[in-house]
Amino acid sequence: MPEEKKLIKVTIDNITIQVEPGTSILLAARSIGGDVVPPAMCYYSKLKGSGGKCRTCLVEVSKGSDADPRPMPKLVASCRTNVMDGMEVKSITSEKVLDARNGVVEFLLINHPLDCPICDQAGECHLQDLSYEHGTDATRYEFQRRTFEKVDIGPYIQLHMTRCILCYRCVYVADQVSKGREHGVLDRGDHSQIATYIQESLDNDFIGNVIDVCPVGALTDRTFRFKNRVWFTKPVDAHRDCPKCSGKTTLWMRGDEVYRVTARKDQWGEVMEWICNECRFDKKKASDWVIDGVTTINRHSVISANKYKGMEKPDDTIVRVMDGRKPKLLMNIHNVSDVNSPEIELSEVMGPPVGEMFEIDELKKEEKSNGKEK
Ligand code: SF4
Ligand code: FES
Repeated sequence: MPEEKKLIKVTIDNITIQVEPGTSILLAARSIGGDVVPPAMCYYSKLKGSGGKCRTCLVEVSKGSDADPRPMPKLVASCRTNVMDGMEVKSITSEKVLDARNGVVEFLLINHPLDCPICDQAGECHLQDLSYEHGTDATRYEFQRRTFEKVDIGPYIQLHMTRCILCYRCVYVADQVSKGREHGVLDRGDHSQIATYIQESLDNDFIGNVIDVCPVGALTDRTFRFKNRVWFTKPVDAHRDCPKCSGKTTLWMRGDEVYRVTARKDQWGEVMEWICNECRFDKKKASDWVIDGVTTINRHSVISANKYKGMEKPDDTIVRVMDGRKPKLLMNIHNVSDVNSPEIELSEVMGPPVGEMFEIDELKKEEKSNGKEK
């Protein structure tokens, strides 16, 4: 008979649970769920060695353990501190923790630009969520921020270091998921940057996963950049027979077009199974996939607005007040507009769509209607 593991007791924000020895405070909090779970910008349960870089997960240990009940003198990183038997932890019930989180967000935003309106990650950015919850409405920073040129690393990924918060997740993916380390953090302190050695292309089969682990908009998918706001797309779970990976993905669709393919993520925003580049970048037709159903978005996110399971629709007031008669449509706004040339399939355009594509098209149409077409 297998030996039963001895569980230890930990109390987080007055909720007591039992966990296996060696569990971190963060994972213990995740097993409780809800608001007590500290935010985590660098820890990633699937990446060995991750955590301990960003300090967003700080908590207060008000009792070390039953054996040594002294409180820990400083706030600790919950992703890197293991629970002890009888430990008592404060997360959202500690003023000190909330104050520290505000401070960490302020530090992260010293160099990260607040360019959410033009950033591709808007709507699914963990730093954006964090700054809504813990940010201030103005910065106290008066000095020049560090900025970098955008760099294409390989044909499919673009790095904009200006937005990087140096969480190291992408470096661990390159180390642990793809074979051979191709990029890393170079230089020190303020000069630290994610870089590929002599700008080598990252052409490994699984390197696309760096896009999914990046908590901010520093690493983006060049096949999707600027094609659509993520909240206008409809995520569906899909799969295909793939010889390289599980083939289980999320398709971000608009109508029948597949705008983006990503790995499926769990409720903590972490990838469930790594996917290969072929599934991610080359399979952009709905017919390449078997659709399993609408994706459940667990994180509170603008993406989940208006299109999910369990959605409650308000009563149709007009039908009710008109005794069940449908309102007559006075104005038809349902025709497809030609303004943006609907015949251009954005999902098939490589890179961001630019004005000329549409102008050329408009010119051709004009020439055709004037009978000038050669
Ligand atoms: S590029 Fe993204 S994943 Fe990589 S270290 Fe910077 S923030 Fe983290
Ligand atoms: S998540 Fe713990 S330090 Fe970053």
